[in-house]
Amino acid sequence: MKDIKQYVEENKQRFLDELFELLRFPSVSADPKYKEDVLRTADYVAGKLKAAGADSVEVCPTAGYPIVYGEKIIDASKPTVLVYGHYDVQPADPLELWTSPPFEPVIKDEKIFARGACDDKGQFYMHVKAFELMMKLETLPCNIKFMIEGEEEVGSDNLGEFVKANKAKLKADVVLISDTAMISLETPSLETGLRGLSYLEVEVIGPNRDLHSGVYGGAVANPATILCQMIASLHDASNHITIPGFYDDVESLSIEERKQLNAAPYNEAEYKADLGVNELWGELGYTAIEHTGIRPTLEVNGIWGGYIGEGAKTVLPSKASAKISMRLVPNQQSDKITALFKQHFESIAPKSVKVKVTPHHGGEPVVTPTDSIAFKAAEKAIEEAFGIKPIPTRGGGSIPIVSLFERELGIKTVLMGFGLDSDNLHSPNEKFDIANYFKGIETIPLFHKYFAELSN
Ligand code: BES
Ligand code: MN
Ligand code: MN
Repeated sequence: MKDIKQYVEENKQRFLDELFELLRFPSVSADPKYKEDVLRTADYVAGKLKAAGADSVEVCPTAGYPIVYGEKIIDASKPTVLVYGHYDVQPADPLELWTSPPFEPVIKDEKIFARGACDDKGQFYMHVKAFELMMKLETLPCNIKFMIEGEEEVGSDNLGEFVKANKAKLKADVVLISDTAMISLETPSLETGLRGLSYLEVEVIGPNRDLHSGVYGGAVANPATILCQMIASLHDASNHITIPGFYDDVESLSIEERKQLNAAPYNEAEYKADLGVNELWGELGYTAIEHTGIRPTLEVNGIWGGYIGEGAKTVLPSKASAKISMRLVPNQQSDKITALFKQHFESIAPKSVKVKVTPHHGGEPVVTPTDSIAFKAAEKAIEEAFGIKPIPTRGGGSIPIVSLFERELGIKTVLMGFGLDSDNLHSPNEKFDIANYFKGIETIPLFHKYFAELSN
């Protein structure tokens, strides 16, 4: 631990400089405009893995953005850790809400501000630097493989095929991912589950052209109004989702499990103040921790139609649309829920309009084991680095690849995230605390150490 701390201390500035370089690439996977930048980011990551001491570094092409692979096999009889992360980021807009440009990282109040600072460049780069540290100090205790992809934020469409085609290459004993959050540096935690996802787009189509809202309004159904009514009906007065069959497969937790989950520190007043809301919302009968961890949800991510430019235009739009996502919990299945949504949404459409439901991507929910060697190694590593034992929590976000690793490779995952919920992931002013970045680099070598030790 002393050597680790010392190495981090001596290299702090360079670790920051390199992360800043990585953050300057606008690797937005959702927007084709950034294609060259995303590709350059992959090359940069490959170069850094090589420089840190990885062998067989490759930028593996896929039908979409490439996957960066690298490994260090010290002894085939030792256990192998597969580190997964993503070098792509979410779009930065709305740009005007950033206090500094999203791809020009800056430090304010000991925090690094940039798109991707936490999700996931800052977090996967901790692993690259921790690997460098273990190579330099000659303390790498197990084999390590890196797989850093470039399409996580758009659903990892091509990763499944890559995994299926490279089972031998990716063979490992555990997948280690830092792409989630902990409660705080004072109260470290480990996420033991992720929600699944069904994402789709709906379109409500009315008259064959935009109409004068005075000449036709009143006699023709307005698709924007109908869309709002249809969306509003998807929750009842208790904020339950009204899609028939939606809750059929939802796993219910025991009273004991719920009690444990709710024992995590949580201050509702602070939570509300941080978000600027007077009151919280949610499915009746559950706490906010449960609403974001163990219960499924349905959210409108975007909604549009008609005239949204400057000033006024009196128009009855011909179409209105929305993007809708549902977060899923064990044992819901993404395809099944998508089908239930489609069927229901089409069935509630009045005859005055037509509707089109287009599924996007999805992912399955997961629960990770807490009695495994790998989880225990993560607990021990955090306890040693933070001076306090981590508590288990359930994460609200989704990383679809986790269930895929389990299904295709038969490998379980440890989610050792060092972000905070307040890091503004996917929002303006995304940040990563410098302290979390360095703490992560310190903790990761300890994970490898204990994983190798406990595997013996
Ligand atoms: N790193 C996040 C997921 C996450 C964030 C998990 C915080 C737990 C806590 C990941 O990059 C992400 O944003 N995933 C998407 C899903 C994907 C299919 C676009 C998500 O959760 O919306
Ligand atoms: Mn992420
Ligand atoms: Mn993300």
